[in-house]
Amino acid sequence: METTGRIEAGKQPLYEEIAARVGGLIDQGTYRPGDRIPSIRALSRQMQVSVNTVMEAYARLENIGKVEARPQSGYYVRSRLAEPGAKLAKEEGDEEPVACCVSIEEGPMRIMRTLSDPSVVPLGGGIPNSDLLPVERLNRMLATESRRFPIQSVSYTGPRGTQRLRTQISKRSLTYGCAFSPEEIVVTSGCVEAVTLALQATCRPGDTVAIASPVYYTFLHAIQWMGLKVLEIPSTPREGMSIDVLGYAIRNNPVHACLVISNFNNPLGSVMPDDRKRELVELLARHDIPLIEDDVYGDLAFGPSRPVAVKAYDEQGIVLYCSSFSKTLAPGYRVGWIAPGRYQRKVQQLKSLFNIATATPPQLAIAEFLAN
Ligand SMILES: Cc1ncc(COP(=O)(O)O)c(C=O)c1O
Repeated sequence: METTGRIEAGKQPLYEEIAARVGGLIDQGTYRPGDRIPSIRALSRQMQVSVNTVMEAYARLENIGKVEARPQSGYYVRSRLAEPGAKLAKEEGDEEPVACCVSIEEGPMRIMRTLSDPSVVPLGGGIPNSDLLPVERLNRMLATESRRFPIQSVSYTGPRGTQRLRTQISKRSLTYGCAFSPEEIVVTSGCVEAVTLALQATCRPGDTVAIASPVYYTFLHAIQWMGLKVLEIPSTPREGMSIDVLGYAIRNNPVHACLVISNFNNPLGSVMPDDRKRELVELLARHDIPLIEDDVYGDLAFGPSRPVAVKAYDEQGIVLYCSSFSKTLAPGYRVGWIAPGRYQRKVQQLKSLFNIATATPPQLAIAEFLAN
């Protein structure tokens, strides 16, 4: 710990001063979740204060949920994630949700580099095992469709993508409670492009995005590069984002967009219950805040039906629904889509400006696969 000097008693009680210093080191990431903080005796020596004062400081940190005492072992930084089933309501004394800039320089690039290393199990990304994918059929279709439409397959599509694929996506949208027309869909290069288009369409640099935390790291990277701030809203593995805390955060901060991974969340695995999905849309609609929904894992459900999308409850077009075929058919084909609701025009313009259109042959192959 860097704070070696003696603390002079100031305006606030000594124990609060110490709690603030240690809490500050936790907030700035010097001590990370799971780390052991200095023992009571060590800190009392280091800061030249009594053991009782440090005990009081640690009790304060424990009360506000920053650290936990482990019997016979000491004090440890608590995970920011609430326990499964924990009450997800904002309570007196809880930490205030505060918007902050993101800084995660090297992490995502390091994870991306390991993706092609066969000796590493890539737990950082949700990558399907190729044994589970219809590899042969898809690749055959890629070849036959390119032969069947030789000119189209080497040409640009319009910025929305091929009509045939959008029709297939539109038919399947019924399975998650939506009924998109092909005209409402823009084909993208994967779900990540869909989400980044949605962020660009709804936010300007300096704006704040409320995210269900923890979130897929690539989105934090995108948010950082776009010069946006994040407001972390706690989530549980059972229910996903806390709507109660989100409501509190919106009342006390300017929020320009909200981002959730609604079904089989990465990394938590949570599926938002239907009534939470409805509450989320109603809350955001009341404040006219767009919701970016990533439902890239929704089709992986076992059983007769898959969970509905948050978008199914959207009556005002505030939800920008994003997904892809990366988890079910072929991550390398880079085919995803967005149904941007009332942001359709903006998303289409951005897609055309930055990417012109998604590659045509994989769209033709996936459309044929789905049609059969
Ligand atoms: C939540 C989430 N969204 C999107 C992606 C990537 O989707 P795509 O490959 O279609 O861009 C991942 C990949 O791990 C993910 O976990």
